[in-house]
Amino acid sequence: MMTKEHYNWATLGTGVIANELAQALQSQGRTIYSVANRTHEKGLAFAQKYGIDKVYDKIDDVFDDPDVDIIYISTPHNTHINFLRKALAAGKHVLCEKSITLNSDELDEAIKLAQKNHVVLAEAMTIFHMPIYRKLTEIVNSGQLGELKLIQMNFGSYKDYDMTNRFFSRDLAGGALLDIGVYALSFIRWFMASSPKQIASQVQLAPTGVDEQAGILLTNDEGQMATITLSLHAKQPKRGTIAYDKGYIELYEYPRGQKAVITYTEDGHQEVIEAGDTAQALVYEVADMEKAVAGIENTMHLGYTQDVMDIMTQLRKEWGIVYPEEE
Ligand SMILES: NC(=O)c1ccc[n+]([C@@H]2O[C@H](COP(=O)([O-])OP(=O)(O)OC[C@H]3O[C@@H](n4cnc5c(N)ncnc54)[C@H](OP(=O)(O)O)[C@@H]3O)[C@@H](O)[C@H]2O)c1
Repeated sequence: MMTKEHYNWATLGTGVIANELAQALQSQGRTIYSVANRTHEKGLAFAQKYGIDKVYDKIDDVFDDPDVDIIYISTPHNTHINFLRKALAAGKHVLCEKSITLNSDELDEAIKLAQKNHVVLAEAMTIFHMPIYRKLTEIVNSGQLGELKLIQMNFGSYKDYDMTNRFFSRDLAGGALLDIGVYALSFIRWFMASSPKQIASQVQLAPTGVDEQAGILLTNDEGQMATITLSLHAKQPKRGTIAYDKGYIELYEYPRGQKAVITYTEDGHQEVIEAGDTAQALVYEVADMEKAVAGIENTMHLGYTQDVMDIMTQLRKEWGIVYPEEE
């Protein structure tokens, strides 16, 4: 167990989401300790923007730095496993952006490596850290909504038909499932009693051969069901509806949700539940990761990440989507 007041975070990647990590730490009066990036100049610019002193000449230098405690990986999905192998073997704790790996085999390998090296491995899944989810779990566990019957999930994101960007590129492990489906699946896993085993789906492919849109139907051993509709070229509300036999919960903007409405169907009354702040999503994630690293409490839910990865792996097998690394 390593307990420190603050851990030294290194960012591996300096794109959109790495900026959000830097801003989250900044909002706490902290700074990322060091920067590793493929394009050195972009690493330097990122460091200058956030007042970070250390930029490695080569990405691999980050793994050898004894002062780095936690590495945050935010490069494209297909690059994660190679960085995970090196980081975990070097004894670093890792918070890795979604989707954590391409498939279950890669994830199993990373988990074994983390166990062997006694470090924390986690996927940066905002859903598992937003306070609203814990609040809703308390309400659900109180029994006032009755039994879970159905979950209905939408996620639509309009991405331009540029087949070279990471959303549609097969070489960058694009596709709706790994980019946005991972949120919908993590949401259903959070609320379902067990991981769904019966899965049916339909998919439409983009010209590159990755999944552009899909409909997925899932049922677990308890008979709880979920439907998911995904699109990378049509907006839909980011809405999760969780239906119990005595009422339903609607949660909007669910990847970083802060507000839900509960309708109690026996008398029609509604209750608005608010907890947490969308803008603080990465602050919650960092705090939970540091608690796990300190050995205080592990609320990173790697088990849910594994269940979600198993479903995504099965779906892509059925859809015949194979990434170059898997050939
Ligand atoms: N949790 C969230 O809310 C959220 C939001 C957005 C994205 N994400 C996830 O975060 C990851 C990155 O997304 P992003 O939108 O931040 O991407 P981005 O802005 O395109 O940045 C990508 C980063 O990865 C680096 N990179 C690209 N290809 C690489 C390679 N082959 N080897 C090493 N480094 C490489 C880039 O380096 P260069 O500077 O050299 O180009 C850049 O630093 C994805 O896994 C995505 O799913 C999560």
